[in-house]
Amino acid sequence: MEEIQETTAEDMSFPPSEPMLYRDIQYSQKQRLTVKIRELDRVLGGGIVLGSLVLIGGEPGIGKSTLLLQASRDFSEEGKKVLYVSSEESLEQMKMRGERLGIDQGELYLLAETNLEKIMDHAARLKPQVFILDSVQTVFSSKLSSGTGTISQVREVTNQVFRFAKKNDICSFLIGHITKEGSLAGPKSLEHMVDVVLYFEGERDHSHRILRAFKNRFGPVSEIAVFNMESTGLRAISNPSAFFLKERPEEEPGSVVTCTIKGSRPLLAEIQALVSSTLFAGNPRRMTIGLDRYRTAMLLAVIEKKLGFGFGGQDIHMNVAGGLFIKEPAADLGILAALVSCIKNKSVPSGFTMLGEIGLSGEVRSVNQTLARIKEARSLGFKSVVLPKGNLSELKKEKIKGIDLIGVKSIRQVVEVLF
Ligand code: TYD
Ligand code: MG
Repeated sequence: MEEIQETTAEDMSFPPSEPMLYRDIQYSQKQRLTVKIRELDRVLGGGIVLGSLVLIGGEPGIGKSTLLLQASRDFSEEGKKVLYVSSEESLEQMKMRGERLGIDQGELYLLAETNLEKIMDHAARLKPQVFILDSVQTVFSSKLSSGTGTISQVREVTNQVFRFAKKNDICSFLIGHITKEGSLAGPKSLEHMVDVVLYFEGERDHSHRILRAFKNRFGPVSEIAVFNMESTGLRAISNPSAFFLKERPEEEPGSVVTCTIKGSRPLLAEIQALVSSTLFAGNPRRMTIGLDRYRTAMLLAVIEKKLGFGFGGQDIHMNVAGGLFIKEPAADLGILAALVSCIKNKSVPSGFTMLGEIGLSGEVRSVNQTLARIKEARSLGFKSVVLPKGNLSELKKEKIKGIDLIGVKSIRQVVEVLF
């Protein structure tokens, strides 16, 4: 069967395009709706912009429907009209979830429907201020003959919701499932079509969930929020640093705390290293969870060359506790300290936190936003920060009290200071 026309790119331009002189262009700050869930607000960059489309992706069962039903509850309690469409669950199922979340008032409409055109008709008639579609992979447009969940279908669904949101200034959310492999036709192929992409992550065996901004046309990215899944829904964890360090073993070789920046916020994290003799002679294991594998390999090479350790016969496992992912070079010093501490079987002195990038010559290089990181460490009771000497001079004028700042220039010096 021939496919009927998909929505085209031209349909999506708002308003009709015309070249304009730069100096004649006026703009106003886009209005935002704030959500009572402050953490969600922050990840969105301070509320959701009117007329924007937010995609929330995550594995099945992670809590996407819960999060958005909770947000719907809060919007409706503040007098907003909300339409929550589910193409996966019946009205009864949604209501049962709603009971757990304590929804009892407000203009919250639920709709169980899989046909996109019917959904959009209802939405156009109801004129909600907030529109939620759960999920993009389980609705279908009758404009297309291809099956539900195929790439052309999810794109068409996204297009129609996007246009609806823009035309009517409606805050819209789309839920999309992704599998561990990230393969499913869906969120990944839609990232370029929406205004904001958030990913909801976590392990099934842990109750905490991390909401991460991946793309945001109206705010910062890499902002994160941490939630705990409880029997009455998701609860925001307001002090994630404390949360991630909660179960840290004190005085244990191979465990080190660093302070990373996630979006606008500093976050303390525990880096762990385990070095053990290998059973795979000639091809030892190098496993990293939560760290960049190439960066870690580079650091291993620098440590071997500059500090004279040999990793040839050793398996190395590195991990960031709590399911965090740290990419930034500022964590280099933490990785190094964890490794050396494990090899020497000596713990890093308690109350120490590590900051700094390492170069190929074993030099320790400056990092950004040191002040925010130091303050975060101090607020959690850390007594000393080992940091690049380069940062130390710029911090002089800040007169930081209550925490020792130890400047280092080379990794050899780091080892001297710590062990
Ligand atoms: P759900 O929001 O249905 O996940 P998704 O939409 O991402 O597939 O959440 C599913 C899990 O959350 C399920 O295992 C039950 C659990 N849950 C709670 O622990 N507490 C709650 O209050 C609710 C509503 C769900
Ligand atoms: Mg769901």
